[in-house]
Amino acid sequence: KPQLLIDTDPGVDDALAILMAHEHADVLGLSIAAGNVGLAHTARNARTLVDLLGATTPVFAGCPTPLVRLPEEDAAFVHGHDGLGDVGFPEPRTAAANEHAALAILRLTHERPGEITLVALAPLTNLALALRLDPSLPQRVKRLVVMGGAVTGHGNTGRIPAEFNIGFDAEAAHVVFESFPDFDLVDWELTLRHAFDEDEFDHWLAAGDHRAGFFGSVFGVARQTNRERGRRGVIAADALAMAVAIDPSVVVRSERHWVGVELDGRLTRGATVVDWGDRLGRPAQARVVLKLDQPKFATMVRRALGSL
Ligand code: BDR
Ligand code: CA
Repeated sequence: KPQLLIDTDPGVDDALAILMAHEHADVLGLSIAAGNVGLAHTARNARTLVDLLGATTPVFAGCPTPLVRLPEEDAAFVHGHDGLGDVGFPEPRTAAANEHAALAILRLTHERPGEITLVALAPLTNLALALRLDPSLPQRVKRLVVMGGAVTGHGNTGRIPAEFNIGFDAEAAHVVFESFPDFDLVDWELTLRHAFDEDEFDHWLAAGDHRAGFFGSVFGVARQTNRERGRRGVIAADALAMAVAIDPSVVVRSERHWVGVELDGRLTRGATVVDWGDRLGRPAQARVVLKLDQPKFATMVRRALGSL
């Protein structure tokens, strides 16, 4: 089983990814970022998920703001004001660990050098801070999988080519992309190509266990928002990244290129720029995932919902 350390801002699709991780991997910790909603909510939501799973996974709260610029937008319109569909869960029993997310990332990778897969499902603030504290971090990590970016410029934020996780903290993404010599990039456009059919997904939810019941309840606001935006299907970006982290063989097609993050653009700040033609001669640090094995992905999700 892979050993995962998940940096996350739950978040409805983060929640699905966290369910998948606990079904298919050893989860060493959840380090929490601000993003979809504020840190108090995302940290609490992670604790709610640990309760639901009856797990003992430690939850490490991280940075409450991006490294440099304050965010221009959140994603409450997708995830609910509380980040989990405004269901109104009670105060979780699980407490947050008394260690900052960035420090927990450094400590755990020291304890298990070369063993841990980092899964980044949120703005990259905590990871960037950890890298600035200790630039040798990449040498101790087995793999890094990032959910972020829009590789041909079809983003999902107020800046057309910027995807949310990268656009929220572009400087942090820049630090991570410049520091890691090798990572997998699961981008927003891949997510749209791998949405689940809604009716099929509803069958899985109906046939599943308490995890499916939970997911069905938190998914309502996101479903409504998607409909209003004319999107069909269950779009779960972080679940795709988690599938790639759990089982790399789910990747059917990928290309390795250098990817940079735009920090200054008037219209493009937060864009991911892929050197598709390898014209800059810079080290190709990103494996851009272009296609997944959809049945395999579906099976991983169904098992995590208890419906297989
Ligand atoms: C990413 O942004 C968040 O809203 C999701 O949780 C996902 O991590 C998609 O752009
Ligand atoms: Ca997320």
